[in-house]
Amino acid sequence: MQSPFNLTGKKIMVTGASSGIGRSIACEIARQGAAVVLIGRNTERLEQTLNALEGEGHSYFAVDITDESKVNEVIGMLPVIHGLVHAAGILNIVPLKILTQQQLQQTTATNYFAPVQLTRGCINSKKMGARSSVVFITSVNGTYTAVKGFAAYAGAKSALNAISKVFALEYASRHIRFNTIAPGMIKTEMYEEMIKTVSEENIKLDKQKYPLGDYGDPVDVANAAIYLLSDASKWVTGTSLVVDGGLTIN
Ligand SMILES: NC(=O)c1ccc[n+]([C@@H]2O[C@H](COP(=O)([O-])OP(=O)(O)OC[C@H]3O[C@@H](n4cnc5c(N)ncnc54)[C@H](OP(=O)(O)O)[C@@H]3O)[C@@H](O)[C@H]2O)c1
Repeated sequence: MQSPFNLTGKKIMVTGASSGIGRSIACEIARQGAAVVLIGRNTERLEQTLNALEGEGHSYFAVDITDESKVNEVIGMLPVIHGLVHAAGILNIVPLKILTQQQLQQTTATNYFAPVQLTRGCINSKKMGARSSVVFITSVNGTYTAVKGFAAYAGAKSALNAISKVFALEYASRHIRFNTIAPGMIKTEMYEEMIKTVSEENIKLDKQKYPLGDYGDPVDVANAAIYLLSDASKWVTGTSLVVDGGLTIN
């Protein structure tokens, strides 16, 4: 009997697939049999992800997800999909005192408006098949924890977490499921950028807040995504799966 976690026969779109968590999700779901549509801006890095995928039927589109008309063009070219993972995201670390409207808008546009618009576009154009699964990569930040300087990021991520539950209700009758994965610190390019401003001593101290030790790997999030995209989670909607090495229970 086929494992309920197997994704054979499912076409799944992943944003942020040119790097970090999105790339790892693309690779791991392809390993489980999914045909993957990769979305990101950087063509070279999208091709690197494409070349790393097992199996067949994969494709990519280089597009800025905040560009509504280009996103609509991509949606028009899509086949019917059975899953959508929103991993594209940016992090601006700016305290309130100097936070500009432009910075707030940029973070919100990428981390909140774009995934909502992309989801709506896929559903309204009938590119989202019945019994699809939508997964938003949010963060422990915003919904579960707070860090100074993360206002724009936390606001957008917690908004996405909240709206996902509303969509879960609105589309339950069509069995389109909506869930979020809320990671703690994961070792990706975004993390590498962030730690440039933090002393080694402070990183050591921060890691001590994680009961399971160290920060997470992208594959830890990818394995959670496999579950939420697969039929193993067919009765799970409107929930948030925290993947944080125990940070939020400490
Ligand atoms: N790393 C962590 O510790 C952590 C923790 C919690 C949550 N998260 C969340 O996990 C997600 C992935 O983060 P990551 O650490 O893997 O970051 P990353 O390595 O910096 O990757 C970010 C991805 O987002 C894409 N992206 C950003 N803006 C885009 C835009 N306007 N249009 C299209 N693609 C865009 C990038 O594509 P291009 O480079 O091709 O533009 C890249 O593929 C993010 O939503 C992040 O907030 C990360």
